[in-house]
Amino acid sequence: MIKPFVPSLPISISTPMASEQYLLLCLVLSSLSLSVSTIQSRGIRLNLTHIVARDLGGIDPVRLAADRTHRRLDALLAAVTPAAATPTRSDGVESALHASSASYLVDVAIGKPPLRLAAIFDTGSDLIWTQCDAPCRRCVPQPTPLYAPARSTTYGELPCGAALCRALSWSRCSPGLGSCAYYYSYGDGSFSDGVLATETFSLGPGATVHGVAFGCSSNNRGAMDNSSGLVGMGRGPLSLASQLGITRFSYCLTSFNDKTTVSPLFLGSSASLSPAAKSTPFVPSPTGPPRSSYHHLSLRGITVGDIRLPVDPAVFELTPSGHGGLFIDSGMTFTALEERAFVALAREVAAHVALPPVSSKRLGLTLCFAAPVDVPRLVFHFDGADMELPRRSVVVEDRRAGVACLGFVKARGMSVFGSMQQQNMHIMYDLERGVLSFEPANCGEL
Ligand SMILES: *[C@@H]1O[C@H](CO)[C@@H](O)[C@H](O)[C@H]1NC(C)=O
Ligand SMILES: *[C@@H]1O[C@H](CO)[C@@H](O)[C@H](O)[C@H]1NC(C)=O
Repeated sequence: MIKPFVPSLPISISTPMASEQYLLLCLVLSSLSLSVSTIQSRGIRLNLTHIVARDLGGIDPVRLAADRTHRRLDALLAAVTPAAATPTRSDGVESALHASSASYLVDVAIGKPPLRLAAIFDTGSDLIWTQCDAPCRRCVPQPTPLYAPARSTTYGELPCGAALCRALSWSRCSPGLGSCAYYYSYGDGSFSDGVLATETFSLGPGATVHGVAFGCSSNNRGAMDNSSGLVGMGRGPLSLASQLGITRFSYCLTSFNDKTTVSPLFLGSSASLSPAAKSTPFVPSPTGPPRSSYHHLSLRGITVGDIRLPVDPAVFELTPSGHGGLFIDSGMTFTALEERAFVALAREVAAHVALPPVSSKRLGLTLCFAAPVDVPRLVFHFDGADMELPRRSVVVEDRRAGVACLGFVKARGMSVFGSMQQQNMHIMYDLERGVLSFEPANCGEL
C-alpha cells in the first residue's frame, strides 16, 4: 500500500464557491484534510501533449520514438545499477529521465504573475523543476523565457531543515542563507542543480496551488527538447501527486499516430473509471530512490493469440535487492521487455504473422514486416487483471516506409510498460487503494 505524502498546500480554485473554501484554508493552513478534500472534491483536468506533436522536424516519428525509447531505457538501467552510471556527485542517481527521452508535456504556469511553461510529465521521477534565472549559471535553451524568482511575488526558499529538503538524496545548506541547495541527477549524466523553493503553480484554468516545492535550477545539463521544466508524478514525497495529497490521478493517451488530439489528465476526484475497470496492485519497492519513485506492477505472463508464452514469471519479478521487475511509465514510448520475454514474444508474433521479416534497422525496432499484417491478440496477465491490448498497441505502422513493426524493445535488468501500449486505455493510479486500474476508452472523447 502506498501512503500518500501528507500534504500541507493551500489550494484555491477561483470560482465564487471555492473562494470561500480558500478563505477557510488560509485560516487553517495547518489543517491537512481540508486542502486534500478541496482538490479531491473538485478535481482538475489538464491536457497532455505528445512531445512529437510539437517537434517533428522531418524525422520519421517511429524512428524518433525508437531512439527516445532506447535512450530512456539506457538511462533507467544506468540509474538502477549505479556501478554502470556516469559518475556524478557521490551518492548519485535519483532518477532516470533525460528530457529528450520523454514523451508527454503538460502546460502549467509558475509564479505571480504566472509564467506559462510546458513541462515534461513524468511518472518515473519525483522532483518538479524549471530552469531559473536566479541568475542562471548554466541554462540549456528552452522554448519559453526563463522563470526569474525576482519577478514573482510568491517565490520562497525552503530552509534546509524542511522535510522535503531532507527527502532529496542530495541536498545541503547553502552557506550563510540556510536555504536548501539540491542536486538531482538522471541516469544518463544529465542533472538539475539549484535551490529547493516554493511557488504558486497554476494547473489549468482556475486551479491555483500555493506553496508547491520545486527545484529552481540554475545549473543544468541535458537537452530540454521542447520543454521548459519537468513535473514528477512518481511515488516519492516531492512529486506533484504527493504534494497535492491527491488519492488518485488518471490519464488516457490518444493514438500513437494521432498528433493533434490531446490526451486528458485528471487529478483528484475527476479521475474515475467505470465499475467494469480492472485493477492490479502496485508492488512496493524493496529499495530506495530511484526505484521507490517507480510505479511497479506484478506481471505474471503474456499470451499471444492463444499461446501463453513459455516465460518463467520470475523474469518479471522485482527481487529483494531491487533488480528486475516491471513498472508503468508515461515517458517510455515502446514497452521494454526483459530479454527472455522479448525473444519469446517476437518469436510467437513472427510465427503468427507468417510473413518474411523486412529490414528494420532504419526504424530502430527489431521485428518489422511489409504492411499490412494480421496482428495477433496480445494479453498481459497482471496480478488479478488481464489487459488485452488493442491491435494498434501491438505493432506500429510506418506509412511512408510501408512497414509494420512490433512496438516493443528488448531490455536487460528490468521491464517497463510504455505509453504506446497504454494508448486508447484510461489508466488510473489509485494511490489510496494502492492499485492501478484500467479500461479501454476512446481517449479523445473523455
Ligand atoms: C517546439 O515547439 C514549437 C511550437 O510548439 C515548434 O515550432 C518547434 O519547431 C518545436 N521544436 C523545437 C526543437 O523547438
Ligand atoms: C485542453 O485541450 C482542449 C482541446 O484542445 C481545449 O479546448 C482545452 O481548453 C484544453 N485545456 C487546458 C486546461 O489547456
